[in-house]
Amino acid sequence: MSPSPSQPATLLSLRGISKTFGAVAALTDVNLDVAAGEVVAVVGDNGAGKSTLVKVLSGVYPPDAGTITFESRTVTIASPAAAQQLGIATVFQDLALCENLNVIENLFLGRELRALRLNDVAMEVRSRELLDQLSAKIPTVRIPVAALSGGQRQTVAIARSLLGDPKVVILDEPTAALGVAQTAEVLNLIDRLRERGHGVIMISHNMADVLAVADTVAVLRLGRNNGVFDPLETSSEQIVTAITGAADNAVTRRARRARRTTAATKEGPDDE
Ligand SMILES: Nc1ncnc2c1ncn2[C@@H]1O[C@H](COP(=O)(O)OP(=O)(O)OP(=O)(O)O)[C@@H](O)[C@H]1O
Ligand SMILES: [Mg+2]
Repeated sequence: MSPSPSQPATLLSLRGISKTFGAVAALTDVNLDVAAGEVVAVVGDNGAGKSTLVKVLSGVYPPDAGTITFESRTVTIASPAAAQQLGIATVFQDLALCENLNVIENLFLGRELRALRLNDVAMEVRSRELLDQLSAKIPTVRIPVAALSGGQRQTVAIARSLLGDPKVVILDEPTAALGVAQTAEVLNLIDRLRERGHGVIMISHNMADVLAVADTVAVLRLGRNNGVFDPLETSSEQIVTAITGAADNAVTRRARRARRTTAATKEGPDDE
């Protein structure tokens, strides 16, 4: 699949990535492409290899085989620092925020602007800038993270990942622990990332979130690719089938019932 001239260039490309843990083949021959300004959802059942894929991309695990191409160069991502230097930032599911520290302190944890000797004021200004870019709803940056909602915390973690100005942002289950309004907030934020030209890889279990925000849906099943879908042309039924490998499940049965009802209505006497 070579992109047409109108499509943005592929930022990150995986080919034939494999990773085993002893006898377990967590990833086998996996391909994945992400372009600038594209949101790719990676979906799959428990144990499908999603987190392993994230960890390969964030420099936690070296792959056993395969090639990673970043901005047209073949790269080795030997450590989390190397991933960051390349421009691949990851927001892990646990977020790794410090409850007792405020938003600014969390954003700059470990990379305080010491060199500039502007620290406090500069960090506050930069924090506001970052959050404004994301249109984040956080009332004050001087508030401890413990006082924030789940959605606001996710926002802080995403803002922190943007500090190094990454090209690719990877979000592992960004809406898993969130309520309806907070989920909507985080999905808006993912739209902002796309608008700003980041390539986004979003791991998710939630089909509604995936269909709402993704440009491309890549399914992993038992550590292998099991289809790449365009959400505008795919039903959640088809994606669930690719995830589970079974064409007969609750989602497909409901869809069949719905189709039967629609067909029956169309055949009805009132229908013109
Ligand atoms: N460090 C490890 N050591 C041994 N086996 C592992 C390790 N990490 C993952 N695995 C195995 O690799 C497979 C893929 O796991 P992975 O965590 O990538 O799945 P996942 O798609 O993220 O699942 P979930 O939705 O449950 O988070 C599983 O069988 C898992 O048990
Ligand atoms: Mg996982």
